[in-house]
Amino acid sequence: MNVLEIRGLTKKFGNFIAVDNMSLTIGEGEIFGFLGANGAGKSTTINMISSLLRPTSGEIKILDKDIAKMSRFAKLNLGIVPQDLAIYEDMTAYENVSFFGGLYGLRGAELKARTEEALEFVGLADKVKGYPKNFSGGMKRRLNIACALAHKPKLIIMDEPTVGIDPQSRNYILNSVRKLNEDGCTIIYTSHYMEEVEEICSRIAIVDHGKIIAEGTKEQLTATITDVKDIRIEVKSLVEVAEDQLRLIPGVRTVKLDDHEPVIRIHSDAAVDNLNRILKQLMDSGAEIRAVEEQEPNLETVFLTLTGRNLRD
Ligand SMILES: Nc1ncnc2c1ncn2[C@@H]1O[C@H](COP(=O)(O)OP(=O)(O)OP(=O)(O)O)[C@@H](O)[C@H]1O
Ligand SMILES: [Mg+2]
Repeated sequence: MNVLEIRGLTKKFGNFIAVDNMSLTIGEGEIFGFLGANGAGKSTTINMISSLLRPTSGEIKILDKDIAKMSRFAKLNLGIVPQDLAIYEDMTAYENVSFFGGLYGLRGAELKARTEEALEFVGLADKVKGYPKNFSGGMKRRLNIACALAHKPKLIIMDEPTVGIDPQSRNYILNSVRKLNEDGCTIIYTSHYMEEVEEICSRIAIVDHGKIIAEGTKEQLTATITDVKDIRIEVKSLVEVAEDQLRLIPGVRTVKLDDHEPVIRIHSDAAVDNLNRILKQLMDSGAEIRAVEEQEPNLETVFLTLTGRNLRD
C-alpha cells in the first residue's frame, strides 16, 4: 500500500504555475525529504495534500483513497506541521493540542490521554499550562508539532519544522521524527538544511519550479553527479582569499567561503585539471594553505549542480 500517491498534480495562480504536473509515490515507513529553494512549490504541494488548496488538476491519494472523494478519511490519517506556526498564543500548550485533537474527532478521556502523550513526546510535559507567548522559538515549533500528533496519523508532513531554532531544539525535533518513524509513521520532511535531510531521510526529492527534477536515496542522487568535483581547501585565514579571482579560473563553477571556519569550498568541472591554478592563485594572493582535500559530492553539490543555485538565499 502507498501512503501517498500524487499523479499529475498542478496548481496555477493566474498564469503562474506553482506546481507543474508533479507525480510522486511514497511507501509506508519512509522519511521522505522534500528539498527545494524558496518558491519551488513545496508548501503549495503540501497545502493541496492537506486540502487547504484545491489543485488546478491532478490526483492525490492517501492510503490508496482519493482525497477529493474521501476527505474525512484523508484528514484523519494526516498530520500537518505547517511552515507558519499554527498555534494560539492565548491558549495554553495543553489547550492548543487538545483543540487540534478535538478537530480530529478525539473526545473525553481519549482526548486527554492523547494530548498529554503528544506534549510529553515533544518534551513539553512540564509546560502544559504555559502560554506560547512565553515560549522560546524552539518550544513553539515543538508545540506546533504536538498539535499534529494527538490523533496519531499514519502520514505526517512537516514543512520546515526546524527553521530558526537553536541546535538543541533542532536535535530534539530530529530525534522525535526518528522515533515517530520507528513507531510506524510515514513522514514527509521539508527543510532548507541539507545536513538534516541527509541525516534522516530514506529518500529525497529535489523540487525546482514546481517540478521534481531528481528523486532517490542520497547515494542514488550523489551518484548522478560525475561531472563535478568538490574541493575543500583549508587556509590560515580567509582574509587573503580573492574569491572573484578564483571564480575566473577555468572549470570553477562556484566558490564558497565557510561562515564558521577558514575553509573554501569549490565546485569545479571534474574534467578540468585546475587544482594547480587554484592553489597558485591562493598563494599569489597571500593565503596560507593548510590542507587540500577532494571530497565526494554531497547533497548540496547535487542541488547546486541540478538547479544552479544555493538552497538558502
Ligand atoms: N496564493 C498564492 N497566490 C499567488 N502565488 C502564490 C500563492 N501561493 C504561493 N504562490 C507562489 O507560488 C510559488 C511557490 O510557493 P511555495 O510557497 O509553494 O514555495 P516553497 O517551495 O514552499 O518556498 P519556501 O521555501 O519559501 O517556503 C511562489 O512563487 C509563490 O510566490
Ligand atoms: Mg514553503
